[in-house]
Amino acid sequence: MCGIIGYCGNKAAKPVLLDGLKRLEYRGYDSAGLAVADSNKLAVIRAVGKVCDLEKKGIARPLPGHYGIAHTRWATHGRPSEENAHPHCDCQEKIAIVHNGIIENYLDLKEELLAKKHVFKSETDSEVVAHLIEEYYSGDLEMAVLKTVQRLEGTFGIAAIHADNDSQVVIVKRGSPIIIGVGENEYFAASDANALLPYTQKIISLNDDEMAVLHAAGYHIKNLNNEFLQKEIEICENRDALADKKGFEHFMLKEIFEQPESIENAFRGRLIESEGVSKLGGLEPVKERLKSLKKIVIVSCGTSYYAGLLGRYIFESLSELHVEVEVASEFRYRKLKIDKNTAVLALSQSGETADTLAAIREAKRKGALILGIVNVVGSAIAQITDAGVYNHAGPEFGVASTKIYTSQLVILTLMALLIGRYQGISYAEGSEVIQAIKKLPRQVKKILTDMEHIKKIALDYAQYKDFLFIGRLFNYPTAMEGALKLKEISYIHAEGYPAGEMKHGPISLIDEQFPTVAIVSRDCTFEKMLSNIQEIKARSGRVLAVASQGSSRIGDICDDVIWVPETLPILQPVLNIIPLQLFAYFIARHKGCDIDKPRNLAKSVTVE
Ligand code: M6R
Repeated sequence: MCGIIGYCGNKAAKPVLLDGLKRLEYRGYDSAGLAVADSNKLAVIRAVGKVCDLEKKGIARPLPGHYGIAHTRWATHGRPSEENAHPHCDCQEKIAIVHNGIIENYLDLKEELLAKKHVFKSETDSEVVAHLIEEYYSGDLEMAVLKTVQRLEGTFGIAAIHADNDSQVVIVKRGSPIIIGVGENEYFAASDANALLPYTQKIISLNDDEMAVLHAAGYHIKNLNNEFLQKEIEICENRDALADKKGFEHFMLKEIFEQPESIENAFRGRLIESEGVSKLGGLEPVKERLKSLKKIVIVSCGTSYYAGLLGRYIFESLSELHVEVEVASEFRYRKLKIDKNTAVLALSQSGETADTLAAIREAKRKGALILGIVNVVGSAIAQITDAGVYNHAGPEFGVASTKIYTSQLVILTLMALLIGRYQGISYAEGSEVIQAIKKLPRQVKKILTDMEHIKKIALDYAQYKDFLFIGRLFNYPTAMEGALKLKEISYIHAEGYPAGEMKHGPISLIDEQFPTVAIVSRDCTFEKMLSNIQEIKARSGRVLAVASQGSSRIGDICDDVIWVPETLPILQPVLNIIPLQLFAYFIARHKGCDIDKPRNLAKSVTVE
C-alpha cells in the first residue's frame, strides 16, 4: 500500500527519493509525489500513475536540494488525482508532509482549520496534518509535529519537512510502519526497508508513539512525551540481491518456482524424526501454555485466511484443539469466547496487515495467547505476538501470494504436530506426517516440470469470463484460493465453493460458457466429488480437474485433467494449489495483465 521515503544528506535528494519510490512500487499504488527543499523554498511534484510518470514530470527540474520526502499513494480518501497525491502542503507552501494510514478525526480537524481560514487543496484526510503543523509552527518543526500528532486519532506514519528548517526530516509513527536508515553522513526515513537498499542495511525501527528528527549531522529519537530514547541499530538482510527476477518474466512466476525451496525452508531444522514431532524454537517460550491449550482462533486476510481455513482442518486432524477461523476484519466485531486457554494465531506474509493487527490487539486485550506465522522478520505483527514462527521464505514481491501460502500450510502442520503430540497423537502418526512433509519439495518440483501442459490448458480456458472452483474438505479452501489467484491477477470473475453446495444454488449458473475447476483427491470425499462433477457435466459445463495421480475415473468424466502427486490428505493442498497458481498466471499473461502489480491491489494492506 502507500509507501514513504525521506532523505537528508550530502547527495541531491531527488534521485534518491525516486529510486526509493521505485523500490516501493511492489506494494501497490495509484499516484506518487515528492517534495525537495532548497534555499528556503519547497519544490513539489506529483503525478497520477507510475513513478516513471512522476520522473518524467520532474526531469526538467534540477532540484539541487539535499533533503526531501516522497510517497506512493493508494487511494482511500479521494480518488487517485494529482491534487490528492502526497506530499501535501500548508497554506504558505513551506511545510510538506507524506502520510500512511488514516486520520480518523480529520473531518473535525478540517472544520477547525477551515474556521481559521486554512485553504485545502485535496480531498484527503492527510492534508489536515500539514495545516495543523502550520498552526503549531513557530520556528521549530519537531515541536510543531509533536503538538500535531497529539491531536490525531487513527493510524499514521508521517514524514515532514519545512523549507526553513535546513536538512531536517521529522518522522513519527503510530500503527503504520516507518523506520530510520543510517548511512554515512546521510539519513533516511522509509515505510519499508526495501526502499533503502542499496543505500544502507543499518536500520532503526520505531515503536508506536515515537518520533525522530533526521538531519545531515545525525538523528535523535523521542517519545511523544518529548523524552529522548536510545535505540539499537539493526542490520537488515540485503533483500536487494533478492529483488531480482532471475530471468523469470514476473516475480509471481519466480516465486511459484521458488516453492520447493521455500517449503524446505519452512521445515528445515524443525523436524525431530526420532520422536515423530516438530521443534519450533519460536514457540519454546510458551511451551507450557501450549500444553494446556483448549482452543485456537486463526485470524488473517485474503490468501492467509484461506491458509487459516486449511489450518482448521490440519489442527482438527492432528490435535484435540477446538479451532475457529476468522477473517481478521470481522474478528474485532465478534463476541468470541476468548480466555487464557485460547491462542489467537495471526497468519501474515507482510506482518503489516492492518486488519490482522487490529484483531490481535483486540485478542491481547482479552488475555489470549497471541501467536504468529509471519514472513517479514521484525514486522509489526511479529513484534506484537507472544511467540511465533517465521516462514523464512525470502521476500515475496508479486502481489498475488504464492510461496508464502504453501509455506504457511507447512508451518501450520508443524504447529499442529507439536501440539498434537502433547495431546495424544501417536509417534507413528507423527512420523508419517514428517515423512510426507519431507517429500513435498520433490513433489512440487515434479508439478513444476508439467508447466507447459498447464500453460496449454490455461490458454484454452483463457476465453471464459466466469469460473467456478469447487472442492470438498481440504480442497474447499484450495478452491477458494485458486479462484482468488485467478480473479486478482486476470480480473476474471471466479468463485470458490464447497462442491456439496453446488446443488443448493450455484449450479444454476452452469452452461457451456461457465467452466468449473474441480479439485479432487483420493480421500473420503472422492466419490461425492465424482457425483458433483457428473452433475455439472449433465448441464453441459466444461470441467477441468486438478486430481491426484491414479484416480483414473476422473480422466473419463472430465474434459481436462492436471495430475498432481499424492500425499497425506492434510498436505494435499500444498500440491494442489501449484497448478492453480500457474493456471491463473498463464491466463493473466495471455490477457496482458500487470501480473506483479494488479490494478487496485496492494502488497501490504496497511489500512483497515
Ligand atoms: O500480508 P498478509 O499475508 O497479511 O496479506 C493478506 C492479504 O492481503 C493477502 O494475502 C492478499 O489477499 C494477496 N493479494 C493474495 O494473493
